[in-house]
Amino acid sequence: MSEAASTVAPRKIIIDTDPGQDDAMAILLALASPEIEVLGITAVAGNVPLWRTAENALKVCEVAGKRDVKVFAGCEKPMAHSLITAEHVHGKTGLDGIELPQPTMALQEQSGVDFIIETLRNEPAGAVTLCTLGPLTNIATAFEKAPDIVERVGQVVMMGGAYFEVGNITPAAEFNIYVDPEAADIVFKSGADLVVMPLDVTHKALVTKPRLEAFGAFGTHVGEACKGWLDFFERFDVEKYGSEGGPLHDPTVIAYLIAPELFKGRHINVEIETQSDLTRGMTVADWWGVTDRPANAHFLGDIDADGFFTLLTERIARL
Ligand code: BDR
Ligand code: CA
Repeated sequence: MSEAASTVAPRKIIIDTDPGQDDAMAILLALASPEIEVLGITAVAGNVPLWRTAENALKVCEVAGKRDVKVFAGCEKPMAHSLITAEHVHGKTGLDGIELPQPTMALQEQSGVDFIIETLRNEPAGAVTLCTLGPLTNIATAFEKAPDIVERVGQVVMMGGAYFEVGNITPAAEFNIYVDPEAADIVFKSGADLVVMPLDVTHKALVTKPRLEAFGAFGTHVGEACKGWLDFFERFDVEKYGSEGGPLHDPTVIAYLIAPELFKGRHINVEIETQSDLTRGMTVADWWGVTDRPANAHFLGDIDADGFFTLLTERIARL
Protein backbone atom coordinates (compact mmCIF):
# COMPACT_ATOMS: atom_id res chain seq x y z
CA MET A 1 0.00 0.00 0.00
CA SER A 2 1.33 3.47 -0.83
CA GLU A 3 1.77 6.09 1.88
CA ALA A 4 -1.02 8.17 0.32
CA ALA A 5 -3.44 5.23 0.33
CA SER A 6 -2.73 4.47 3.98
CA THR A 7 -4.16 7.86 5.04
CA VAL A 8 -7.52 7.21 3.36
CA ALA A 9 -10.22 6.01 5.75
CA PRO A 10 -11.29 2.44 5.04
CA ARG A 11 -14.46 1.95 3.02
CA LYS A 12 -17.34 0.79 5.22
CA ILE A 13 -19.18 -2.22 3.89
CA ILE A 14 -21.87 -4.71 4.80
CA ILE A 15 -21.38 -8.14 3.21
CA ASP A 16 -24.70 -9.79 2.36
CA THR A 17 -23.95 -13.42 1.60
CA ASP A 18 -24.96 -17.09 1.35
CA PRO A 19 -21.67 -18.94 2.01
CA GLY A 20 -20.78 -20.88 -0.20
CA GLN A 21 -17.05 -21.51 -0.78
CA ASP A 22 -16.65 -18.53 -3.13
CA ASP A 23 -18.52 -16.31 -0.66
CA ALA A 24 -16.07 -17.52 1.99
CA MET A 25 -13.13 -16.43 -0.16
CA ALA A 26 -14.76 -13.01 -0.63
CA ILE A 27 -15.23 -12.62 3.13
CA LEU A 28 -11.56 -13.53 3.73
CA LEU A 29 -10.43 -11.02 1.11
CA ALA A 30 -12.45 -8.27 2.80
CA LEU A 31 -11.26 -9.16 6.30
CA ALA A 32 -7.64 -9.20 5.10
CA SER A 33 -7.76 -5.79 3.38
CA PRO A 34 -6.98 -2.55 5.23
CA GLU A 35 -8.91 -0.49 2.64
CA ILE A 36 -12.12 -2.10 3.92
CA GLU A 37 -14.00 -2.00 7.21
CA VAL A 38 -16.59 -4.77 7.52
CA LEU A 39 -19.43 -3.31 9.61
CA GLY A 40 -21.26 -6.61 9.60
CA ILE A 41 -22.09 -9.74 7.64
CA THR A 42 -25.73 -10.51 6.89
CA ALA A 43 -26.56 -14.06 5.89
CA VAL A 44 -29.32 -14.87 3.43
CA ALA A 45 -30.82 -18.15 2.23
CA GLY A 46 -29.35 -19.20 -1.11
CA ASN A 47 -26.69 -21.81 -1.79
CA VAL A 48 -27.97 -23.65 1.30
CA PRO A 49 -30.75 -22.81 3.81
CA LEU A 50 -30.37 -19.80 6.10
CA TRP A 51 -29.34 -21.68 9.23
CA ARG A 52 -26.39 -23.08 7.31
CA THR A 53 -25.36 -19.83 5.56
CA ALA A 54 -25.43 -18.04 8.93
CA GLU A 55 -23.39 -20.80 10.59
CA ASN A 56 -20.97 -20.82 7.65
CA ALA A 57 -20.43 -17.06 7.91
CA LEU A 58 -19.43 -17.57 11.56
CA LYS A 59 -17.09 -20.41 10.59
CA VAL A 60 -15.38 -18.24 7.96
CA CYS A 61 -14.80 -15.45 10.50
CA GLU A 62 -13.27 -18.02 12.82
CA VAL A 63 -11.02 -19.38 10.07
CA ALA A 64 -9.86 -15.77 9.55
CA GLY A 65 -9.28 -15.37 13.30
CA LYS A 66 -11.71 -12.41 13.32
CA ARG A 67 -14.10 -13.29 16.11
CA ASP A 68 -15.22 -9.71 16.64
CA VAL A 69 -17.06 -9.46 13.30
CA LYS A 70 -20.82 -9.10 13.74
CA VAL A 71 -22.80 -11.75 11.88
CA PHE A 72 -26.59 -11.55 11.46
CA ALA A 73 -29.19 -13.92 10.03
CA GLY A 74 -31.50 -12.34 7.46
CA CYS A 75 -34.34 -13.73 5.35
CA GLU A 76 -34.94 -17.45 5.19
CA LYS A 77 -36.85 -17.48 1.94
CA PRO A 78 -37.22 -15.42 -1.23
CA MET A 79 -39.88 -12.70 -1.41
CA ALA A 80 -42.42 -14.47 -3.63
CA HIS A 81 -41.34 -18.07 -4.23
CA SER A 82 -39.93 -21.02 -2.38
CA LEU A 83 -36.18 -21.35 -1.89
CA ILE A 84 -33.98 -23.04 -4.51
CA THR A 85 -30.60 -24.17 -3.16
CA ALA A 86 -27.37 -25.37 -4.80
CA GLU A 87 -26.01 -28.29 -2.76
CA HIS A 88 -25.13 -29.95 -6.09
CA VAL A 89 -22.45 -27.26 -6.46
CA HIS A 90 -21.45 -26.39 -2.88
CA GLY A 91 -22.04 -29.72 -1.09
CA LYS A 92 -24.44 -30.50 1.76
CA THR A 93 -23.00 -27.93 4.16
CA GLY A 94 -22.41 -25.24 1.54
CA LEU A 95 -18.78 -25.16 2.68
CA ASP A 96 -17.72 -28.71 1.82
CA GLY A 97 -14.00 -29.20 1.17
CA ILE A 98 -12.60 -29.06 4.70
CA GLU A 99 -13.96 -30.22 8.07
CA LEU A 100 -14.45 -27.20 10.32
CA PRO A 101 -15.49 -27.24 13.99
CA GLN A 102 -18.82 -25.84 15.12
CA PRO A 103 -18.35 -22.08 15.58
CA THR A 104 -17.95 -20.73 19.08
CA MET A 105 -18.91 -17.21 17.96
CA ALA A 106 -22.60 -16.42 18.32
CA LEU A 107 -24.95 -14.82 15.85
CA GLN A 108 -26.19 -11.33 16.70
CA GLU A 109 -29.79 -11.27 17.92
CA GLN A 110 -30.90 -8.45 15.62
CA SER A 111 -32.19 -9.55 12.19
CA GLY A 112 -29.91 -8.91 9.24
CA VAL A 113 -32.56 -6.76 7.58
CA ASP A 114 -32.87 -4.50 10.62
CA PHE A 115 -29.09 -4.27 10.90
CA ILE A 116 -28.90 -3.05 7.28
CA ILE A 117 -31.63 -0.45 7.93
CA GLU A 118 -30.16 0.76 11.22
CA THR A 119 -26.62 0.98 9.85
CA LEU A 120 -27.65 2.98 6.79
CA ARG A 121 -29.64 5.36 9.01
CA ASN A 122 -26.85 5.80 11.56
CA GLU A 123 -23.89 6.20 9.21
CA PRO A 124 -23.51 9.36 7.11
CA ALA A 125 -25.43 9.24 3.82
CA GLY A 126 -23.31 7.62 1.10
CA ALA A 127 -20.84 6.11 3.59
CA VAL A 128 -21.92 2.47 3.42
CA THR A 129 -21.42 0.10 0.48
CA LEU A 130 -23.58 -3.01 0.29
CA CYS A 131 -21.63 -5.95 -1.13
CA THR A 132 -24.05 -8.66 -2.17
CA LEU A 133 -22.84 -12.19 -2.88
CA GLY A 134 -26.15 -14.05 -2.87
CA PRO A 135 -29.85 -13.59 -3.67
CA LEU A 136 -30.98 -10.00 -3.06
CA THR A 137 -33.74 -10.86 -0.56
CA ASN A 138 -32.26 -9.08 2.47
CA ILE A 139 -31.48 -5.90 0.54
CA ALA A 140 -34.87 -5.69 -1.20
CA THR A 141 -36.70 -6.44 2.05
CA ALA A 142 -34.78 -3.63 3.77
CA PHE A 143 -35.56 -1.26 0.87
CA GLU A 144 -39.28 -2.14 1.09
CA LYS A 145 -39.41 -1.84 4.86
CA ALA A 146 -37.46 1.44 5.05
CA PRO A 147 -37.55 3.27 1.69
CA ASP A 148 -35.65 6.21 3.25
CA ILE A 149 -32.44 4.15 3.32
CA VAL A 150 -32.19 3.76 -0.47
CA GLU A 151 -30.78 7.24 -1.01
CA ARG A 152 -28.36 6.73 1.88
CA VAL A 153 -26.64 3.74 0.20
CA GLY A 154 -23.19 4.63 -1.14
CA GLN A 155 -23.15 1.83 -3.69
CA VAL A 156 -24.43 -1.70 -4.16
CA VAL A 157 -21.70 -3.91 -5.60
CA MET A 158 -23.20 -7.29 -6.44
CA MET A 159 -22.31 -10.63 -7.93
CA GLY A 160 -25.22 -11.63 -10.10
CA GLY A 161 -26.63 -11.91 -13.59
CA ALA A 162 -25.07 -12.42 -16.99
CA TYR A 163 -25.34 -11.15 -20.54
CA PHE A 164 -22.99 -12.99 -22.91
CA GLU A 165 -22.81 -16.06 -20.63
CA VAL A 166 -26.62 -15.97 -20.17
CA GLY A 167 -27.24 -18.48 -17.36
CA ASN A 168 -25.77 -21.09 -15.04
CA ILE A 169 -28.74 -22.41 -13.04
CA THR A 170 -31.10 -22.29 -16.04
CA PRO A 171 -30.20 -21.61 -19.69
CA ALA A 172 -31.37 -18.02 -19.13
CA ALA A 173 -30.56 -17.11 -15.53
CA GLU A 174 -27.68 -16.79 -13.10
CA PHE A 175 -28.24 -18.37 -9.66
CA ASN A 176 -28.32 -15.30 -7.37
CA ILE A 177 -30.88 -13.50 -9.52
CA TYR A 178 -32.89 -16.66 -10.30
CA VAL A 179 -33.42 -17.53 -6.63
CA ASP A 180 -35.19 -14.22 -5.96
CA PRO A 181 -35.98 -12.27 -9.14
CA GLU A 182 -38.60 -10.16 -7.37
CA ALA A 183 -35.94 -8.94 -4.94
CA ALA A 184 -33.51 -8.29 -7.79
CA ASP A 185 -36.20 -6.34 -9.63
CA ILE A 186 -36.68 -4.07 -6.59
CA VAL A 187 -32.94 -3.45 -6.27
CA PHE A 188 -32.38 -2.78 -9.99
CA LYS A 189 -35.34 -0.35 -10.02
CA SER A 190 -34.38 1.31 -6.72
CA GLY A 191 -32.22 4.09 -8.12
CA ALA A 192 -29.28 3.04 -5.92
CA ASP A 193 -25.83 3.23 -7.54
CA LEU A 194 -25.32 -0.36 -8.78
CA VAL A 195 -22.18 -2.19 -9.87
CA VAL A 196 -22.78 -5.68 -11.26
CA MET A 197 -20.27 -8.55 -11.53
CA PRO A 198 -21.99 -10.95 -13.92
CA LEU A 199 -20.91 -14.40 -15.11
CA ASP A 200 -19.30 -12.61 -18.07
CA VAL A 201 -16.61 -11.49 -15.63
CA THR A 202 -16.47 -14.43 -13.24
CA HIS A 203 -16.23 -17.04 -16.01
CA LYS A 204 -12.89 -15.41 -16.88
CA ALA A 205 -11.61 -15.77 -13.30
CA LEU A 206 -10.69 -19.46 -13.44
CA VAL A 207 -9.08 -21.34 -10.57
CA THR A 208 -6.32 -23.02 -12.58
CA LYS A 209 -4.04 -25.55 -10.89
CA PRO A 210 -1.21 -23.05 -10.15
CA ARG A 211 -3.73 -20.57 -8.72
CA LEU A 212 -5.18 -23.32 -6.51
CA GLU A 213 -1.75 -24.49 -5.37
CA ALA A 214 -0.81 -20.94 -4.37
CA PHE A 215 -3.24 -21.20 -1.44
CA GLY A 216 -1.87 -24.58 -0.33
CA ALA A 217 1.63 -23.06 -0.39
CA PHE A 218 0.74 -20.67 2.48
CA GLY A 219 1.27 -23.57 4.89
CA THR A 220 -1.40 -22.11 7.19
CA HIS A 221 -4.88 -23.19 8.30
CA VAL A 222 -6.36 -20.35 6.20
CA GLY A 223 -4.47 -21.57 3.13
CA GLU A 224 -5.56 -25.15 3.74
CA ALA A 225 -9.20 -24.04 4.07
CA CYS A 226 -9.04 -22.02 0.82
CA LYS A 227 -7.45 -24.90 -1.07
CA GLY A 228 -10.01 -27.38 0.28
CA TRP A 229 -12.95 -25.11 -0.57
CA LEU A 230 -11.76 -24.24 -4.07
CA ASP A 231 -10.84 -27.81 -4.87
CA PHE A 232 -14.31 -29.00 -3.91
CA PHE A 233 -16.21 -26.07 -5.42
CA GLU A 234 -14.62 -26.17 -8.85
CA ARG A 235 -15.11 -29.87 -9.56
CA PHE A 236 -18.72 -29.27 -10.63
CA ASP A 237 -17.96 -26.43 -13.07
CA VAL A 238 -14.81 -28.02 -14.51
CA GLU A 239 -16.91 -31.04 -15.44
CA LYS A 240 -19.74 -28.84 -16.73
CA TYR A 241 -17.69 -26.41 -18.82
CA GLY A 242 -14.65 -28.54 -19.59
CA SER A 243 -12.46 -25.57 -18.63
CA GLU A 244 -8.98 -25.61 -17.07
CA GLY A 245 -10.46 -24.46 -13.76
CA GLY A 246 -13.78 -23.45 -12.21
CA PRO A 247 -14.90 -19.80 -12.14
CA LEU A 248 -14.48 -17.90 -8.89
CA HIS A 249 -17.45 -15.55 -8.55
CA ASP A 250 -17.93 -13.67 -5.31
CA PRO A 251 -14.43 -12.35 -4.45
CA THR A 252 -14.60 -10.21 -7.62
CA VAL A 253 -17.02 -7.94 -5.72
CA ILE A 254 -14.48 -7.21 -2.98
CA ALA A 255 -11.60 -6.99 -5.46
CA TYR A 256 -13.54 -4.28 -7.29
CA LEU A 257 -13.54 -2.14 -4.13
CA ILE A 258 -9.79 -2.48 -3.74
CA ALA A 259 -8.64 -2.42 -7.38
CA PRO A 260 -11.42 -1.25 -9.75
CA GLU A 261 -8.81 -0.88 -12.51
CA LEU A 262 -8.81 -4.70 -12.83
CA PHE A 263 -12.31 -4.53 -14.37
CA LYS A 264 -13.94 -3.07 -17.48
CA GLY A 265 -17.61 -2.53 -18.14
CA ARG A 266 -20.39 -0.29 -19.41
CA HIS A 267 -23.00 1.89 -17.78
CA ILE A 268 -26.22 0.39 -19.16
CA ASN A 269 -29.85 -0.44 -18.53
CA VAL A 270 -30.52 -3.80 -16.86
CA GLU A 271 -34.02 -5.16 -16.24
CA ILE A 272 -35.02 -8.38 -14.49
CA GLU A 273 -37.43 -10.90 -15.99
CA THR A 274 -39.93 -11.93 -13.32
CA GLN A 275 -42.86 -13.22 -15.39
CA SER A 276 -41.78 -15.83 -17.93
CA ASP A 277 -41.45 -19.45 -16.80
CA LEU A 278 -38.81 -19.96 -19.46
CA THR A 279 -36.53 -16.99 -18.73
CA ARG A 280 -37.37 -16.17 -15.12
CA GLY A 281 -34.45 -14.40 -13.40
CA MET A 282 -32.79 -13.33 -16.65
CA THR A 283 -30.85 -10.05 -16.48
CA VAL A 284 -31.95 -8.29 -19.66
CA ALA A 285 -28.86 -6.14 -20.14
CA ASP A 286 -28.86 -3.53 -22.90
CA TRP A 287 -25.12 -3.96 -23.55
CA TRP A 288 -25.40 -2.65 -27.13
CA GLY A 289 -27.63 0.31 -26.25
CA VAL A 290 -30.49 -0.74 -28.50
CA THR A 291 -33.23 0.77 -26.28
CA ASP A 292 -33.90 4.19 -24.80
CA ARG A 293 -34.22 2.71 -21.32
CA PRO A 294 -32.12 4.73 -18.90
CA ALA A 295 -28.86 3.28 -17.57
CA ASN A 296 -29.25 1.96 -14.03
CA ALA A 297 -26.12 -0.15 -13.52
CA HIS A 298 -22.40 -0.31 -14.16
CA PHE A 299 -22.33 -3.78 -15.73
CA LEU A 300 -18.86 -5.27 -15.93
CA GLY A 301 -17.67 -7.47 -18.75
CA ASP A 302 -13.96 -8.04 -18.40
CA ILE A 303 -11.34 -8.75 -15.73
CA ASP A 304 -7.56 -8.89 -15.50
CA ALA A 305 -7.66 -12.42 -14.08
CA ASP A 306 -3.95 -12.62 -13.23
CA GLY A 307 -4.14 -9.30 -11.39
CA PHE A 308 -7.23 -10.49 -9.54
CA PHE A 309 -5.66 -13.78 -8.35
CA THR A 310 -2.45 -12.00 -7.37
CA LEU A 311 -4.46 -9.61 -5.21
CA LEU A 312 -6.56 -12.43 -3.73
CA THR A 313 -3.63 -14.63 -2.73
CA GLU A 314 -1.44 -11.79 -1.53
CA ARG A 315 -4.21 -10.49 0.74
CA ILE A 316 -5.50 -13.80 2.11
CA ALA A 317 -1.91 -14.84 2.90
CA ARG A 318 -1.88 -12.00 5.45
CA LEU A 319 -4.52 -13.68 7.63
C1 BDR B 1 -23.31 -17.35 -7.60
O1 BDR B 1 -24.12 -18.43 -7.16
C2 BDR B 1 -23.57 -19.04 -6.03
O2 BDR B 1 -23.62 -20.42 -6.18
C3 BDR B 1 -22.18 -18.51 -5.88
O3 BDR B 1 -21.85 -18.39 -4.50
C4 BDR B 1 -22.23 -17.16 -6.55
O4 BDR B 1 -22.63 -16.15 -5.65
C5 BDR B 1 -22.78 -17.66 -8.99
O5 BDR B 1 -23.84 -17.83 -9.88
CA1 CA C 1 -22.72 -16.55 -3.23
